[in-house]
Amino acid sequence: MDFIGANILSVSQFERGDIDRVFQVADKMTPYARRERVTRVLEGAILGNMFLEPSTRTRLSFGAAFNLLGGTVRETVGIKASAMAKGESLYDTARVLSGYSDVICMRHPQEGSVAEFAAASRVPVINGGDGANEHPTQALLDLYTIRKELEANGRSLDAFRIAMIGDLKYGRTVHSLCKLLCLFSNVQIILVSPPELAMPEAVVEKLRSAGHQVKISDQLESAISQVDIVYSTRIQEERFASQEEANLYRGRFRLNREIFTRYAQPNTVIMHPLPRDSRAEANELDTDLNEHPSLAIFRQTDNGLLVRMALFALLLGVEGKVDHYAREV
Ligand code: CP
Repeated sequence: MDFIGANILSVSQFERGDIDRVFQVADKMTPYARRERVTRVLEGAILGNMFLEPSTRTRLSFGAAFNLLGGTVRETVGIKASAMAKGESLYDTARVLSGYSDVICMRHPQEGSVAEFAAASRVPVINGGDGANEHPTQALLDLYTIRKELEANGRSLDAFRIAMIGDLKYGRTVHSLCKLLCLFSNVQIILVSPPELAMPEAVVEKLRSAGHQVKISDQLESAISQVDIVYSTRIQEERFASQEEANLYRGRFRLNREIFTRYAQPNTVIMHPLPRDSRAEANELDTDLNEHPSLAIFRQTDNGLLVRMALFALLLGVEGKVDHYAREV
């Protein structure tokens, strides 16, 4: 794909070579993310960061990534803080904000809304999550993390095994990750969820059409014993009709140190897009795993910075100039 000026709305727009390109640029961002080197390649550029649903890591890492490339961030957080609260349309908002920005990142509660916004924008728009639909940059950073973790054990993205666990119906990160996995070969996927929160059939069909082996299960212990990557997710309570309905599923598949140590293979890696639900009775990923070397959740969040820096550099056409505008710290 031609990255310059492109919107990033869905992982479906990527081919395998595009993924390689993003990861190659992300690798080069490491000294800048660590502040061993400083670049001003995006000096004068403005990111419009519009987050109309709660977020910690996506919003802040987009902002930090832009700042690390020398750019400035302008934020709108929550619908109430924007003129949408007064009835302004996505179209008008996009026309206005794109006049003030070089690139826009947007999270919105409704599926398809970021694409609608992007159609009216005069600058590239990156989807930071649209309802239960997609979260493409999370999937990229997840895949980047999986690649790094597998490579540390002499493995690659072709022919690995992953268990996705939890709310697979509403979890947009697993939808996007599954679609990205279709670009690779011979992946074995175990989908563990309550039947009511199963992965959408269209996504399962896509995985099978790509030649991957897909198993549907409700057995946590058995699933984690068969895989290289355990990808846990929280119950997406904001997508349920009521808190009570979400509570029916909370804590159904809880991974803790005792279960992980007893059933998982030695090199198995634990991932989670975060946030994890820290309320005691609901904890899908127990804090007793915090110091476990297999827990990659904070390596994921660190990798998110690299991947988002890479995307900004590619979309704004400066990936070849990052070193030119740099100095050692
Ligand atoms: N993973 C993720 O999207 O986290 P935030 O909701 O904190 O952005």
